[in-house]
Amino acid sequence: MLETAPDTANQSAKPLHNAETIAEPLRSEPVGRLTGATQPPGDKSISHRALMFGALALGETRIEGLLEGEDVLRTAAALRALGAEVTRDGPGLWRVVGRGTGGLCEAADILDLGNSGTAVRLLMGMVATQDMVTFFTGDASLRRRPMARVTTPLARMGAEFLAREGDRLPLAVRGAAEPMPISYRLPVASAQVKSAILLAGLNAPGETCVIEPEPTRDHTENMLRHFGAAIWVGDGPEGRAIRLRGQPELRAAPVIVPADPSSAAFAVVAASILPGSEVLVRNVGVNPLRTGLFTTLLEMGADIAFLDRREAGGEPVADLLVRGAELRGVEVPAARAPSMIDEYPILAIAAACARGETRMLGLGELRVKESDRLRAVAAGLAACGVPHREGEDSLVVRGDGTPPGGGGMVATNMDHRIAMSFLVLGLRARAPVAIDDARMIDTSFPGFVAMMNGLGARMGAAA
Ligand code: S3P
Repeated sequence: MLETAPDTANQSAKPLHNAETIAEPLRSEPVGRLTGATQPPGDKSISHRALMFGALALGETRIEGLLEGEDVLRTAAALRALGAEVTRDGPGLWRVVGRGTGGLCEAADILDLGNSGTAVRLLMGMVATQDMVTFFTGDASLRRRPMARVTTPLARMGAEFLAREGDRLPLAVRGAAEPMPISYRLPVASAQVKSAILLAGLNAPGETCVIEPEPTRDHTENMLRHFGAAIWVGDGPEGRAIRLRGQPELRAAPVIVPADPSSAAFAVVAASILPGSEVLVRNVGVNPLRTGLFTTLLEMGADIAFLDRREAGGEPVADLLVRGAELRGVEVPAARAPSMIDEYPILAIAAACARGETRMLGLGELRVKESDRLRAVAAGLAACGVPHREGEDSLVVRGDGTPPGGGGMVATNMDHRIAMSFLVLGLRARAPVAIDDARMIDTSFPGFVAMMNGLGARMGAAA
């Protein structure tokens, strides 16, 4: 008989913001320069995965430096609801006692993943090859996002889905009683889709293979290895093939989470655009599949030194020493998009402060993020008087090297990265920049305002 997990649906760490709290406008004011040292919170992608692999492994997994942002706390609550023991021992210190591959139990209630696309898509993969029914939902932003990219391959593995409007949350999954491994070529470059298939493949007999046209972040592959799965990665004419042998016994393994390069990005760009700045950003994950923004900033003339390169928990890390610099516009090739997919909003801010045109290509995926990010960035730039051109999958931003106008009220559309990016613009603009709602910042970067103000920024409640 299928075991049912204890009813833990109400243990999620915080209320749903959209339903239970009201918008918090915030603004940032022009400042001279930033100085000091800081360490952004843990990597979001690695934090989700550490909890998930801990839940699928036998034994106790200890995690250090876990991001305690809302998105990851949602994953922790969902895993508890699926039967794993997830405990917080102190700031960033977590423990997971797993259930073994295929050992999750049916949740007693709907799993609400809030704002997190990564959480819901990866969890869908985890439950798709277990003989049980799971219901998923999320906040208004997540309920608008397409899920067919994961349900299509997972259905081929034997799972059945029932979703609003065909592929929107709320969504029900009946996991496959007799899962089948698949070989699947990703139609879009997406680490979430790749990871969902690999997680489903863990509980299928035989070999699951994912082929990606462009390499995307490989934290799932690294962690599969770290937890003892047999996995092979090879580059071929069709792209990168990742092959996983199904039904391994995953063994608990300690995880050290580096600081998130996508969060470090805000301090790195802020220090780069403010002349005279000198900021040390510590312990940043510099996995080459995540560092497209840093490459681009260096091409633009940024002054970033990578100090003390080392490895922590199987991922490369470094301390970044960033000084203010005169940036110039560049063309950012489409092939770079997967390695900086979350960083285009903050790159657009750097571009607004650079001299010349910055052309960003291959941005189609930005339309299906926490918001239509291409639209939201263009609207924010318009509100702040920054010349730009929005294409179907491109963005061109023009600056003259002097402070942009600012003075606008930017609509964040429930998107944390839009909120943080435009707060950074306000530091260099001629007039303060306001955002309509700062609540979503907590999904990925609790303490963002305090960290930036600690370096000399002026961000605070809008009057
Ligand atoms: C993520 C993959 C990316 C990224 C997201 C995190 C992950 O999404 O935008 O913030 O952890 O796998 P896509 O897979 O949709 O590109």
